[in-house]
Amino acid sequence: MTKSSKTKFDIRQSAPGKMKSIGGYLELQLSRDSEYYPAMIRLNTGRNALEYILKIRGYTLIYLPYFTCEVIMEPVRKLDIQYRYYTINEHMEPVLDFELGETECLLYTNYFGLKQEAITGLRRKFKNLIVDNSQAFFSEPVQDTDTFYSCRKFFGVPDGAYLHLASPARLKLERDVSVNRFSHLIKSIDLGIEQGYQDYVANNDVLQQNPIRKMSALTHAILEGIDYKACRYRRNSNFMYLHDFLVNHNDYSFDASNVNAPMVYPFSHPSTSLREKLLAKRIYVATYWPNVYSWTTKQMYEYYLTSHLIPLPIDHRYSHLDMKRIINVLKNLL
Ligand SMILES: Cc1ncc(COP(=O)(O)O)c(C=O)c1O
Repeated sequence: MTKSSKTKFDIRQSAPGKMKSIGGYLELQLSRDSEYYPAMIRLNTGRNALEYILKIRGYTLIYLPYFTCEVIMEPVRKLDIQYRYYTINEHMEPVLDFELGETECLLYTNYFGLKQEAITGLRRKFKNLIVDNSQAFFSEPVQDTDTFYSCRKFFGVPDGAYLHLASPARLKLERDVSVNRFSHLIKSIDLGIEQGYQDYVANNDVLQQNPIRKMSALTHAILEGIDYKACRYRRNSNFMYLHDFLVNHNDYSFDASNVNAPMVYPFSHPSTSLREKLLAKRIYVATYWPNVYSWTTKQMYEYYLTSHLIPLPIDHRYSHLDMKRIINVLKNLL
C-alpha cells in the first residue's frame, strides 16, 4: 500500500458544544446500563467530595477521627479550616467528649460498611454530620445527611466519587479526565494484578492535590456498566462465609445481622504476624491506615487497630472457594 492510498479519517473530536462526529474508528465498547446512585453529584475523588461539602457549608472547624486516611486532610488544609481529632471506642464509634458549635461539623467514617446504625444515632445528635462512605458503597445516605462515596474502593475504576448533599447549592466545575490513570486497570487484565501494582501506586499518587472536578466521562461510563446486584450479592455471601469461621477468633465484635455488602471482612487478632504470613501466600491485605501510627500513641486503640486489623478481601472477584483458601491459611496461624 502506498502512503497516499492509506485510508484517512477526518476525526473531529466531539468537544462540548460541537456537533457529534459521525464515522471514524470504533470507540471502546462498554455496556452502558445505569449507575448505582444516578441522582447524586458525580465528582472526581472522595476527598474532593469532602471539599465540596466544606465549601458549600462554610464550616469553620471539623472534628476528624484519628482512625482515617490522611488524604482526608487535603481539603481541610487547602481550605485552611481548623480541625480537631477525636477517638473511637471498641465499637469504632466516636467518644463524644465535645460539643459541636453552629459552624462546626463532625466527620464520621462508616468503617468497613458496618456502621450504618451508628450513623443513624449520630445524626439524631448532630445536624452537622458528614458521613464518609468510602468504605460503604452500598450503604444509602441517612436522610438529610451530607454523605460521600469513593468508587475506586469497590470497583475497577481509578477515581470517581458520589456526593449526596442535603442542600440545593451547587458548585460550577469542569470535568476531570482520567485516561492517564488507567494503566494498572488495563494491565490487571492483560498481565495480571501483580504486574500492575507499581502503576496502581503511581496512579494513586497522582490523585493527590488534584483539583475538585466532575467525574470523568470514562469513569462514569464504566460505572454505568457494572452489575451492582451481583457485586452486592457476592460481597455479602463472602463476608458471611468468613464470619462463620472467624467470629470466635475475632477481637473486633460487630453485629453481622444487617451487613450490606461491606468493603472487607475486618479481622482483628492479637498476633502481629498474620499480615506478613498472608502476603507470603499471595493474599494481599492493606493497612488501614499507616498515617495513624504518626497521629496516635502506642496506648491508643486506633494504634492497635492499625497494627492488628486485617481487612480480608471479600469482593465480587471471589467465591467461597477463595474464602476457603484464606481460612485455610489463617487456621494454621490462629
Ligand atoms: C476512609 C477514606 N475516606 C476517604 C478516602 C478518599 O477517597 P479518594 O481516594 O476517592 O479521594 C479514602 C482513601 O483514599 C479513605 O480511605
